[in-house]
Amino acid sequence: MPLMVGIALISYLIGSIPFGMLISQLGGLGDIRKIGSGNIGATNVLRTGNKKLAALTLLCDMGKGTFAVACGYIFGTGLPNLNPAISIAAIFVVLGHCFPIWLGFKGGKGVATGLGAALALTPISGILCCAVWLLGAKLSKISSMGALTAFIAWPLLVMIESQFDLKAPLLFPALIISLLVIWRHQANIQRLMNGTEPRIGDKKEHSS
Ligand code: G3P
Repeated sequence: MPLMVGIALISYLIGSIPFGMLISQLGGLGDIRKIGSGNIGATNVLRTGNKKLAALTLLCDMGKGTFAVACGYIFGTGLPNLNPAISIAAIFVVLGHCFPIWLGFKGGKGVATGLGAALALTPISGILCCAVWLLGAKLSKISSMGALTAFIAWPLLVMIESQFDLKAPLLFPALIISLLVIWRHQANIQRLMNGTEPRIGDKKEHSS
């Protein structure tokens, strides 16, 4: 049990690193929370027009998801079953991104970090989930649409991969993370329904 608490804590702290904030500040863009949707993710960094810093934010946010799950694998070595360790790592790294201690628990929406965790947790479904994300965003030209379709798809992909075994151990973290990401998109869902959600590349500011 102390091992699981340790994995949860380390993963939460990894997820808490607000790369979007740090990269924007260090890159001279200012406080990203005062721009666009106010979100600390790559989509909002892109609204500043700086594609390189947006790509760097995306990579770092995805990287922390993958890294935390990798830590779960490493720290879980020796356990009879690795699934609880990697599942806890994946859930807590996304929780850290969404509720970072360093930003008064007001963080991002968990998309890039969730995708990074998905890649490490369920590689085949994770790659397909990233493909759905890219395709959804490309076809709709709306970032949140890509995110929502990807995180609806992920648990379904895990189910298909496990041949519809509802007790598949990695279905639980996929479901929890997907529900969290979708829940964090409430304002986006409202704007999508109102037809006011900005398109990718749209620099126009809007309230969250
Ligand atoms: O990655 C988050 C994205 O799905 C939505 O971001 O800034 O449009 O709320 P944003």
